[in-house]
Amino acid sequence: ATHKLLLLPGDGIGPEVMGEVEKIVSWLSKEGVASFETERDLVGGAAYDTHGKSISDETMRLADAADAVLFGAVGGAKWASVPYEHRPEAGLLRLRKDLGLFANLRPAICYPALASASSLKPELVEGLDIVIVRELTGGVYFGEPKEIVTLENGEKRAVDTQLYTTGEIDRIARVAFDLARKRRNKVSSAEKHNVMKSGVLWKEVVTRVHAQDFSDVTLEHVLADNCAMQLVRYPKQYDVIVCDNLFGDILSDVAAMLTGSLGMLPSASLGAEDPQTGKRKALYEPVHGSAPDIAGRGLANPIAMIGSLAMCLRYSFGLIEAADRLEAAITEALASGSRTKDIASEGANAVSTSEMGDAIVAALGRG
Ligand code: NAI
Ligand code: MG
Repeated sequence: ATHKLLLLPGDGIGPEVMGEVEKIVSWLSKEGVASFETERDLVGGAAYDTHGKSISDETMRLADAADAVLFGAVGGAKWASVPYEHRPEAGLLRLRKDLGLFANLRPAICYPALASASSLKPELVEGLDIVIVRELTGGVYFGEPKEIVTLENGEKRAVDTQLYTTGEIDRIARVAFDLARKRRNKVSSAEKHNVMKSGVLWKEVVTRVHAQDFSDVTLEHVLADNCAMQLVRYPKQYDVIVCDNLFGDILSDVAAMLTGSLGMLPSASLGAEDPQTGKRKALYEPVHGSAPDIAGRGLANPIAMIGSLAMCLRYSFGLIEAADRLEAAITEALASGSRTKDIASEGANAVSTSEMGDAIVAALGRG
């Protein structure tokens, strides 16, 4: 099958890191590992400069027709004063909303060569490979009422509302169980049923989905605060962690710090499964932004972007072997000493964005 890939490099270092992804896509095609049909389009500030909008309707159409979207990063000082609805981030928000991307996957992978850069002891994180599945479109960030009201006695009262329906919990649980089947077959569901009604319902629905359709996957329930503690104590006990929007925001940032640089972290956002084709809408992007402070100088680490391609191969295209091979090539390039400036040790020689990409392609060739 030919996989339709839409590349949206965006602004700042986005185009630089996407250039390295294009090298890898070409290599995979040339070697006959997989066949891709790629298109490239504008998003963010770059799209605003051309179309007066941070994403055009035509680009949205391409995104909708693609099997997956690879997104670089958007934003920069140049667009600080454009109208609010046209700010670069609006392009990304529209993609997330219109494609219905309700599941955010944030892996924390620790490459052995970088274990000493973690905030934990190297032996605790070496070889770490976990994914946090965060519900992205519901919960306390969106629930109504959401307001600050002034009371009769002059005090103010702030209200946020944590809301989840069984349908919302059911679909995120299914994403987590599906994912676990492509990994080490274990899901840890984090909530606080001891103090929150949404936690009670969360636990109940996850338990039902598991019993109905995923009893081959190991399921454990963990209180979210304990999960934060366990992530710092012994993170390798986990495979897939599933949680709501708020807990996911916090737990994924905790997990990120287990692994070192922002330049290393990929992510995926997935939508609902099409009942006809079984395919999901999907967008893959590095966790980092457009890094204007280093843009245009060949300093950006392309690994977060290349890791996002690896996730795309694995989760959207089912190219498990190619994904394993690409991740092994990243591991090998790092092990053989290639380091961009953000991950090089003080005073050591650093390679450029493009040299890092070349080292990964070379390692693919040997693999
Ligand atoms: P940032 O992630 O762009 O940069 C934070 C720091 O990390 C900077 O010092 C940067 O040089 C470094 N860094 C980031 N990615 C790197 C990489 N691949 N290799 C080496 N170093 C890297 O976050 P910041 O500075 O808060 O925001 C910059 C711009 O990016 C803003 O306009 C912001 O709105 C936008 N942004 C966009 C996001 C997106 O497109 N999804 C996400 C976060 C921020
Ligand atoms: Mg956060």
